[in-house]
Amino acid sequence: MRHQPSNMFARKPIATLLAEMSGGERLHRVLGPVALTSLGVGATIGAGIYVLTGAAAHNFAGPSIMLSFLLAGIGCGFAALCYSELASMVPVAGSAYTYAYATLGELVAWIIGWDLVLEYAIGSAAVANGWSNYFVEFTRHMLHIQIDPRLLSPPWDYDLKTGQFFFNTVTLASGDAVNAWLNLPAIGIVAIITAVLVVGVRESAGFNAAMVLLNIGVILTIIGVGAVYVDPSNWRPFLHEEKGWTGVAEGAARIFFAYIGFDSISTHAEEARNPQRDLAIGIMCSLLICSTLYIAVAAILTGMVSYRSIDVAAPLAAAFRQKGLTFATGLITMGILAGLTSSLLVGNLSQPRILMAMARDGMLPEGFFAAVHPRFKTPWKSTMLVGLVVALGAAFVPLNFLADLVSVGTLFAFVIVCAAVWVLRYKNPEIHRPFRVPALPLIAAMGILVNGGLMFSLGRDNWIRLIVWLSIGLVIYFAYSRYHTKLGRPQLPQEDVQIEV
Ligand code: ALA
Repeated sequence: MRHQPSNMFARKPIATLLAEMSGGERLHRVLGPVALTSLGVGATIGAGIYVLTGAAAHNFAGPSIMLSFLLAGIGCGFAALCYSELASMVPVAGSAYTYAYATLGELVAWIIGWDLVLEYAIGSAAVANGWSNYFVEFTRHMLHIQIDPRLLSPPWDYDLKTGQFFFNTVTLASGDAVNAWLNLPAIGIVAIITAVLVVGVRESAGFNAAMVLLNIGVILTIIGVGAVYVDPSNWRPFLHEEKGWTGVAEGAARIFFAYIGFDSISTHAEEARNPQRDLAIGIMCSLLICSTLYIAVAAILTGMVSYRSIDVAAPLAAAFRQKGLTFATGLITMGILAGLTSSLLVGNLSQPRILMAMARDGMLPEGFFAAVHPRFKTPWKSTMLVGLVVALGAAFVPLNFLADLVSVGTLFAFVIVCAAVWVLRYKNPEIHRPFRVPALPLIAAMGILVNGGLMFSLGRDNWIRLIVWLSIGLVIYFAYSRYHTKLGRPQLPQEDVQIEV
């Protein structure tokens, strides 16, 4: 029987959200504050700092990319405070999607949920692409193995500065210039990650913690060793010669991708031992750790090589190689591969959990997206589907295109989260908030302003792509979700409105 359409503005009561947390097919509560921070850092440090910094400094900001990192970090800081309040108040799985459902209603919740697919699944495709760049660096310069270049890049690319698309031409050993086919190493790493995630979050969190430690070690090595090779004359002029101060904002929008991930901690509420306290701790700590490391790495990279000649594929490894630091280059490259692996792991871990939260509400087919594996207790079907989407994106779409799309989508989600926290303080002042955003209207307004400003800096084409993406989402909502959601349809028979717990 076809259901009646739902009320698009129905809000999900917070009491219902909390009631859903108990009993039923739930995930294991295994994560404490250190594990959560580690998941945040693992998700955050990745292709942004290791790959995109090169192109952003080269094309937009020059050495002032350090300020770009600061600016983007400040925007994220406002959003992080707002995320923390919502996460402590609505400590259930689903992240911004769930918060929007509780505060702004079903339609906005769907839009956010769909937008988060951009952030996580498409974001992971970008990271897998960056992973492949360093993998190629490793095999070519460390192992001296030449892989057929047609298998190392997507068939097309686009110019970051002009927005022009072009076919991706590679040169074979014979000297012939041919078109690239696909990014095969990216597919390989996504397949491995998907297999690990299907087996379980406890194992994955342990694996992630080890990767994060290694990752931070690598960044500290880059900072420590690189500092010796910094030539301060590379920092002059400080601003990009063509772009000036505009380049700082454009650079911030381009490297904003580097910060994405800290908010993924909020998708693990259901697996957190003490979500009301630890989510806020995890979110703020991971953002602080990442911002500090990023600004330092940006300073080192632009100090080691002139921004005019920075390598845009694997900038850090190339900078070290240029200084003749062969051993350090090998070490860094392996560490970066580990870092990108953990970033991928968390992205691919978070996405199925958001889809699961949406499916439990009836927004997506529940039998598929909310299916929890009887033995592993993981949302295994959606994990496999996400793996497939990520692998296809990574194989056939270039990194910069993916990263910009992800950034514009995430910035949009941040703006809504800042607005939601503000609205909810007025609409539901009575709800207990273990963590409260200080100086509220100001912080939320600044979050909307800075993150909205960064969206603006990404340019018209990215806005259009976001609008296209959201439109596809709206078609799904009006064709499917609206007829299947469990809330907001008053005429339904009783058994249909019950929320499964
Ligand atoms: N922040 C993550 C990265 O830079 C998505 O790879």
